[in-house]
Amino acid sequence: MSFKNVGVVGAGQMGNGIAQVVAMHGVSVVMMDVSEESLTKGLKTIESSCDRLIKKELMTTQEKAEVLSRIKTTVHMGDFRDCDLVIEAATENVELKLNIFRQLDEVCPPKAILASNTSSISITKMAAVTSRPEQVVGMHFMNPVPLMKLVEGIRGLQTSDQSFRKVAQFAENLGKTFIEVKDMPAFAVNRILMPMINEAIYVLHEGIASVEDIDSAMKLGTNQPMGPLTLADFVGLDTCLAIMNVLHEGLGESKYRPCPLLVKYVEAGWLGRKSGRGFYNYAG
Ligand code: 3HC
Repeated sequence: MSFKNVGVVGAGQMGNGIAQVVAMHGVSVVMMDVSEESLTKGLKTIESSCDRLIKKELMTTQEKAEVLSRIKTTVHMGDFRDCDLVIEAATENVELKLNIFRQLDEVCPPKAILASNTSSISITKMAAVTSRPEQVVGMHFMNPVPLMKLVEGIRGLQTSDQSFRKVAQFAENLGKTFIEVKDMPAFAVNRILMPMINEAIYVLHEGIASVEDIDSAMKLGTNQPMGPLTLADFVGLDTCLAIMNVLHEGLGESKYRPCPLLVKYVEAGWLGRKSGRGFYNYAG
């Protein structure tokens, strides 16, 4: 393995999935979040994800114990001091991410590569607040991380070939397929996926079809594993809105305007699965 000690910032949906997959490949992980509560929740999610893999006979109970033993948790960023790669997977907010990158730059060894799992924000911008911009790379995993085969690799303007190659190799070692994309708003996956989800929300908003029928249309009519509204709830409506805003502001075209119904749902705190309500109800 090209990296021996990997840090992950954020124990949420993406952070805990990344920590799990890295630990499943024999690498030590330090998973950091701002509260013990978030860390406990993240570890619980990893346990139940491993249990699902055991059920599908893709993992043994012994391997599960090994995975968990490789993950250390902390609320202190200073605990990344021995990491050779840190993957940031915090909330999709520019100011928050810039702050994290400034701090990572201070605490991580000079040789360490700093990666971001951002789904839409400029890698170039994050690289620019560090003293090692050539060692900053975008490493965009898909949700749920243990099941999805893709990692979208993003080169900031400053990213060196060497850093990019190391990250590509690492992703391949994790069993993922790595593709290379330019650092443009929302990169490739979300540039295509989010306008589709946003359009599905417009179809609902304009009363063209019901939630269930929109999802059936796309599942049965185009063989997608999940309908777009189920997928939006799965990803998180706040994340979908944040990505549409990045597209709208970054590319300036009205076709990227977030659907007003999506904005309202987020204002209501109806964020999808994680809040118990989105286009579907998950309470109880
Ligand atoms: N770890 C974590 N979650 C798991 C899991 C594991 N080991 N195994 C299954 N899941 C989740 C599923 O999401 C779902 O949740 P639920 O039981 O609570 O309803 C459930 O577990 C389904 O499990 P199944 O075993 O029945 O499902 P399948 O294995 O048949 O398929 C799937 C699940 C792979 C998620 C499939 O539905 C799928 O491919 N969906 C589309 C996912 C997708 O498009 N992801 C990309 C989103 S975009 C993105 O991530 C980019 C970001 O920047 C926004």
